[in-house]
Amino acid sequence: MIPVTLPFIPPKEDYDILLHGIWKRQWLTNMGPLASDLEMKLKEHLGVEHLLFVTNGTIALQMAIKALDLKGEIITTPFTYVATTSSIVWENCKPTFVDIDQKSLNIDPSKIEEAITEHTSAILTTHVYGNPCDVEAIDKIAKKHQLKVIYDAAHAFGVNVNGKSIFEYGDISTCSLHATKLFHSGEGGLIITKDPMLLKELSHIRNFGHDGPEKFYNLGINGKNSEFHAAMGLANLNYVQAIHEQRKLLTERYDQKLRNFKAIKPLWHKHSKPNYAYYPIVFESEDLLLKCIDLLKMNEIFGRRYFYPSLSRSLPYLESKPLKWADNISKRVFCLPLYFNLTVEEVDLICRLLLRAQNN
Ligand SMILES: Cc1ncc(COP(=O)(O)O)c(C=O)c1O
Repeated sequence: MIPVTLPFIPPKEDYDILLHGIWKRQWLTNMGPLASDLEMKLKEHLGVEHLLFVTNGTIALQMAIKALDLKGEIITTPFTYVATTSSIVWENCKPTFVDIDQKSLNIDPSKIEEAITEHTSAILTTHVYGNPCDVEAIDKIAKKHQLKVIYDAAHAFGVNVNGKSIFEYGDISTCSLHATKLFHSGEGGLIITKDPMLLKELSHIRNFGHDGPEKFYNLGINGKNSEFHAAMGLANLNYVQAIHEQRKLLTERYDQKLRNFKAIKPLWHKHSKPNYAYYPIVFESEDLLLKCIDLLKMNEIFGRRYFYPSLSRSLPYLESKPLKWADNISKRVFCLPLYFNLTVEEVDLICRLLLRAQNN
């Protein structure tokens, strides 16, 4: 069986050494030494000034909305994982979906301004599959209309734009370190901001709003992560380069074998390199996509219709909204299996099956 993804698992000895320290210290959570060490090493690795390690990428988004004190409407993309949208609703704001660009699959900045109303407080959008949004255009619109910007960078670990980390854009960026992500801590998330005042706000939010044992600074939540998750992150960080290289090799193999296949890849930001987090393709037609899914399934191979259906159509707690490209692309997009332990032979098999489905 070939699933769409499998987590990277570090050698057990690497994790055991870190566990040994946890047992010795008997410090399991509440910003322990491993969590602090992971934050320090990630800041260095990513080249960012401030960063917080939190429970997961969803709570990171909700904390970001809370810290910026957002109200009313938030402009967002329908082409993302549901956590982007649900975080907005959970924080009592209203998502305003704006269509995506048919080539990059990210929010189309040329359609943002017409969606802004007197109630709009922010733009919260996703670098989908790790492909950077048009950050310059979005930041320009945000400045003009005095809107805050949050980037859901759940897929964008290790991505740079114009030579700096994608996490440095917007007021706040968030990332997911869920087990399925290319760098993970089992469960986990990151919040990144350049603003020291926001960092202070966020670090109090992460710890129930505590300002010492008997005082409170703001409305907080439990956004902390444990030493066990930090240990998994630290163990994995030593392999991040190897993970990147293996995913690059597999991606290039797909590219080569699928050059005559009737599907296209999202157009990548021209001042950025891919992190190989996913292998999404947009099929020529939904019919061909469904034919391919069937043939792959018959061979115990499972990709994922990531992201289908469009969130602007499918959430029971929001009104359905037609959007030309989100509707169209979500029906034709598919992520092929991509993970560290996938072999070149398996990629070749997947490509052979796709070509066979196309040619039949
Ligand atoms: C775009 C996007 N945003 C947010 C999340 C939520 O992250 P987590 O699973 O760490 O809560 C995910 C998770 O898959 C995601 O893909």
